[in-house]
Amino acid sequence: MTRKMKIVQSLVKAAALANVSKQIDHFSKFSPSPLSMKQFLDFGSTNACERTSFVFLRQELPVRFSNIMKEISLLPDRLLTTPSVQLVQTWYIQSLLETLEFLDRNPDEQRVLEAFVEVLEAIRNRHNDVVPTMAQGVIEYKDAFGQQDPVTDHNIQYFLDRFYTSRISIRMLINQHILVFNGSTNPSHPNTIGCIDSMCDVTEVARDAYESAKLLCEQFYLGAPELELKQINANNSRAPIQISYIPSHLYHMLFELFKNAMRATIENHESSRTLPPIKVMVALGGEDLSIKMRDRGGGVPFRKTERLFSYMYSTAPRPSIGHEHRPPLAGFGYGLPLSRLYARYFQGDIQLYSMEGYGTDAVIHLKALLTDSVERLPVFNKTALRHYKLNLEADDWCVPSKEPLDLAVYRSAK
Ligand SMILES: Nc1ncnc2c1ncn2[C@@H]1O[C@H](COP(=O)(O)OP(=O)(O)OP(=O)(O)O)[C@@H](O)[C@H]1O
Ligand SMILES: [Mg+2]
Repeated sequence: MTRKMKIVQSLVKAAALANVSKQIDHFSKFSPSPLSMKQFLDFGSTNACERTSFVFLRQELPVRFSNIMKEISLLPDRLLTTPSVQLVQTWYIQSLLETLEFLDRNPDEQRVLEAFVEVLEAIRNRHNDVVPTMAQGVIEYKDAFGQQDPVTDHNIQYFLDRFYTSRISIRMLINQHILVFNGSTNPSHPNTIGCIDSMCDVTEVARDAYESAKLLCEQFYLGAPELELKQINANNSRAPIQISYIPSHLYHMLFELFKNAMRATIENHESSRTLPPIKVMVALGGEDLSIKMRDRGGGVPFRKTERLFSYMYSTAPRPSIGHEHRPPLAGFGYGLPLSRLYARYFQGDIQLYSMEGYGTDAVIHLKALLTDSVERLPVFNKTALRHYKLNLEADDWCVPSKEPLDLAVYRSAK
């Protein structure tokens, strides 16, 4: 390539990037539009219309991309410039540009609708490795700059919660469109609309997740605790417990909780011959569907329970990317924080109650009613901005000194 060509090429690239940032500014001024589970279901069944879905997504996807891209750009420079975060950023830019291509296309042309599905599939694949790549970025940053200050830690936690939630939601929109409009309905599951099951059998998903975790556990530890599962349906004691939910999300949460419960149980009973079972209770009420998982894995000190949801905390040895012989039950420390995002995505939550010396109760709370299940989405605004500009301020609670107070000083002052 001649020098002149190179210069032209870099000019074109610079112009394209300048244009991208203008687009991001524009689309980040819109708030994302959260959809309810009912809307997702209706959209995929009674009024399934590919044209409408296309017109909605070609606006909504750029809005969701741009809102979170604004926040990426506010990350501390030293994290933003790591190769991994740079890579993630280029994926987002490319996907944004590809969706923008459709803004002036004609929604009445079948050709356009088909091309759109292809682009969505490409975007989905491009973003497959966003979570481990971003995790790698945080590790690179931690390794390079060592112990961080609590403000930066708080910012990274705040950012990752929002970033991964945004990713979950974008994948949800893309998956629904692809699955509903690719022409093939799934006859063996008449209740599924895209990736939502309107009669998701919670107990069945729990058993599946247990079996997979058990397989992994047995590979690594040569044994696994048993499962004791009970359920109570307060609305109809004989009916199975079914809600409208995304089985893959529920499976993800339960699988992570089972892996944690199994690892803790085994590590806490190394010297005894029997393992106490993991007890799961599923309860459906008028408003909530709750799943409690109880293990006797020795628990965690109360002081540390909030830390368990940190993306930077795990008591397992850190796995290296691409390393094949890593312990399968624990890794980056992403199990709990990501699972909680899945639960919160449709207005649920995950809570941990631990009794140090005994064991842990982990509870998943989900909304049982269609109308309560609405996407919980981050929006980029002044409040969000303030979080990234947070300064280290003095604590407004006294910090106890490590040395015992010398009362002699007071005595002599009498
Ligand atoms: N049921 C439990 N009993 C005791 N400790 C637990 C339990 N669940 C989680 N922990 C502690 O919390 C930490 C974080 O859990 P988390 O699932 O987020 O990450 P991890 O299991 O270390 O790695 P992975 O990303 O593979 O899940 C664990 O390393 C473990 O120390
Ligand atoms: Mg885990």
